Amino acid sequence: VAVLLGPKKPSGPDYQGIWEAGWKENLDEFYVSGDENALVPKFVKNNQPVRFRGELIMPLGETFESDFVSVLREAFFRRYFHGYSSIAEFGCGTGQNLVHLQRIFPDASLLGADWAMSSVDLLDNINQRFGFSIEGINFDLFHPEEHASGPLTKTKAAFTVGTMEQLGANFEPFLQFLLDSDINRVIHFETAYELYDPDNLWDFFAMAYIEKRNWLRGYFSALRELEMAGTIRILYQAKTFGSFHHDGYTVTVWQKVTI
Ligand SMILES: C[S@@+](CC[C@H](N)C(=O)[O-])C[C@H]1O[C@@H](n2cnc3c(N)ncnc32)[C@H](O)[C@@H]1O
Repeated sequence: VAVLLGPKKPSGPDYQGIWEAGWKENLDEFYVSGDENALVPKFVKNNQPVRFRGELIMPLGETFESDFVSVLREAFFRRYFHGYSSIAEFGCGTGQNLVHLQRIFPDASLLGADWAMSSVDLLDNINQRFGFSIEGINFDLFHPEEHASGPLTKTKAAFTVGTMEQLGANFEPFLQFLLDSDINRVIHFETAYELYDPDNLWDFFAMAYIEKRNWLRGYFSALRELEMAGTIRILYQAKTFGSFHHDGYTVTVWQKVTI
């Protein structure tokens, strides 16, 4: 309980430098080794208990979290991005998800957006190593209006993995950006505050943790409201698994309703 509810630094705009420094470490390692394992974020810890179906379990596989994420990407990208010619990841970090996506759909044009310049540099390195041409764009989700007419608005699909959580309650500008763009279908692998059950002990801890970190709250209710208004359709939403603190890999897929 002390670990779960102890002091935590809340997310927000001053986190940019922390991400910049973190991805710089991955960049330096990847630059030297060219090893894809150097793209796994340092916050993904091996040999840790994970949340699964309302309980904490201890996986047998050492790299269970990144292995499971890889399986999720494979399944959801193939199912929901098939036929999309251009796809963007917002908050692309080291680029590990885009590498996987490019291998699944070699002909798709991919873009990676992140507010950390070391993330854009990582994509440049990835392109050189693997012969890809993923476009890296410096982009702040708190200020998407700065890119109101850029290439990100022209992509047909988008996804996020653990990025929306960083926005706290300040998700409206980015949601509006998505709605105003040509992006038709979106997949989120994100913690969904609204899906936790406060009567379940582990969910109660996850909610408390999300509040302390000032993580995403209200976004999935806003999507439900857009669905009720006939603007979007939620095609899929379910918990899959999570790391120790929360169900960070809850999957939500939505698309715009076109008349
Ligand atoms: C938990 S990491 C996930 C990275 C990557 N999606 C992955 O799965 O490895 C969150 C990412 O969101 C980015 N991010 C957080 N807040 C952001 C903001 N306001 N604008 C752009 N990127 C942001 C961070 O720099 C970081 O790369």
